[in-house]
Amino acid sequence: MIPEMQSSRVAVVTGCSRGVGLALVTELVKNNYKVFATCRSPSSAAQLAEVLSSLQQPPATPLDVTDEATIQQAYSTVRAATGRVDLLINNAGIATRGHPVEPCLTADVAEMNRLFATNVSGVVRTTQVFLPLLRASPRPRVINISSGLGSLAQCSKPSPGMRNGQVISYRASKAALNMATVVMCQEMPEVQFLLVHPGWVATDMGSAGGRSPDVSPAESAAGIVRVAGDDQRHSGEFIDWKGQTIPW
Ligand SMILES: NC(=O)c1ccc[n+]([C@@H]2O[C@H](COP(=O)([O-])OP(=O)(O)OC[C@H]3O[C@@H](n4cnc5c(N)ncnc54)[C@H](OP(=O)(O)O)[C@@H]3O)[C@@H](O)[C@H]2O)c1
Repeated sequence: MIPEMQSSRVAVVTGCSRGVGLALVTELVKNNYKVFATCRSPSSAAQLAEVLSSLQQPPATPLDVTDEATIQQAYSTVRAATGRVDLLINNAGIATRGHPVEPCLTADVAEMNRLFATNVSGVVRTTQVFLPLLRASPRPRVINISSGLGSLAQCSKPSPGMRNGQVISYRASKAALNMATVVMCQEMPEVQFLLVHPGWVATDMGSAGGRSPDVSPAESAAGIVRVAGDDQRHSGEFIDWKGQTIPW
């Protein structure tokens, strides 16, 4: 076990090659976490490698949330280094190729299944596998990065940056993630789960279709890490990066 890991809090984050995940790495280190930044292909994630090296963090750990072998391998890597995880951030997520437009009548069901495999089952499986390490923490937390677009209550209201078209697969996958998280938090009361909408963020996903999001990845990451450290939160809350409740 790496000796310094015994004193710092330990975070594992999925999908760190770019976007919100990459920004979370810097923010977590600023907040005194040791970070296991994971991504599908560390050899193609040059920016992440640079950030990790400059922050003196372990090199990127391979983890594809749809690939069982890589989840198990990442678990073994973290277990050997630290023996526990205090914070798991299930950040990896995908939208459809045509995001932010995906009309219901022409939605590609194969693509919908791909979204569910990443945004829903991938989160559940990663959490299942890392549970023994979370249980070894005195204060285990899981942040599942959801989206305001997963809110049933707000579905008929206009959302910033959204055009005509219902983005059916993405919305349905995030609503399913919300339900999966509420069920997980009921079955695992020893772990605090939060569903966090990161804002409309200037990433590849947020800017898709030539849009101009109003939140930077760094601002979003700062908000997510702030809510992750808030002891007043109840497990299973659905909130945004500023800590505001989002209606289901
Ligand atoms: N940006 C927004 O406005 C916004 C709004 C609401 C919610 N969100 C949510 O915020 C999270 C981060 O999104 P983002 O805006 O940062 O998106 P992004 O820039 O498109 O980045 C997505 C990240 O997820 C990774 N990823 C995709 N599939 C994966 C898999 N199977 N296993 C592991 N990693 C995988 C990508 O890795 P590769 O580089 O390997 O593709 C990339 O690192 C997502 O859950 C998204 O749904 C974003």
